[in-house]
Amino acid sequence: MLALMAALPEELGSLRAALDAPAVHHHAGREFTTGRLDGYEVVLVLARIGKVAAAITATLAVERFGAQAVIFTGVAGGLHREARVGDIVVARELLQHDLDASPLFPRHEVPLTGRARFATDAVLSDALALAAQEALAIESQALAASWATLGIVAPRVHEGLVVSGDRFVATALESEALRHELPDALAVEMEGAALAQVCHDCDLPFAVLRSISDRADEQAHVDFGRFLREVAGPMSAAVVRRWLFS
Ligand code: ADE
Repeated sequence: MLALMAALPEELGSLRAALDAPAVHHHAGREFTTGRLDGYEVVLVLARIGKVAAAITATLAVERFGAQAVIFTGVAGGLHREARVGDIVVARELLQHDLDASPLFPRHEVPLTGRARFATDAVLSDALALAAQEALAIESQALAASWATLGIVAPRVHEGLVVSGDRFVATALESEALRHELPDALAVEMEGAALAQVCHDCDLPFAVLRSISDRADEQAHVDFGRFLREVAGPMSAAVVRRWLFS
């Protein structure tokens, strides 16, 4: 059983619509939908927003629904100068940028794990990165009009560090501080590193796929709702389904 999680409904909608034999289960205020997607047993669930919400959802997907691998898709703010709106980031490592138990433990280290950075599953991430490259090429015609009106030019796929925290980063001051502290961070979001910690503890493979929706500063230069509906949602679904077909 594969768990597919997202923070926002626009990112799961078209995957849910493609499910065979969907069955809805309500638990802990969440709606888990089980079914078959392109021949694979999956459970789809909205994680809600933030690290605690993501950790609860992932734990339930594993413990209640028997998930043996977890994929999180969603949007993120671009930190690295190369991570532009419309680009796709496949996480290779995740870190909680707001975790600080110093001086007991080094800054960012998850106490008692001995690490701050958690690696995603290499096989899953390789396959998702390839699927993302292919999906960008294939969807470019269908999405060209949306990309143009949202100011997106030739989106690319990046792989590397994604950082998570319980804060929507919306000032240049904060994103600059994150860039300074974690120069290799590609993007910031609010759930991925929590999923990483759960999957580390449960010894399960996981991957995180993000579309860059903003530059984590004051300039909301894209229409967030439209970006989700017209770009991030369809791209997430296209990438996941290409990966399942591969
Ligand atoms: N998700 C999308 N954009 C984000 C941002 N700027 N900060 C945190 N999470 C995000």
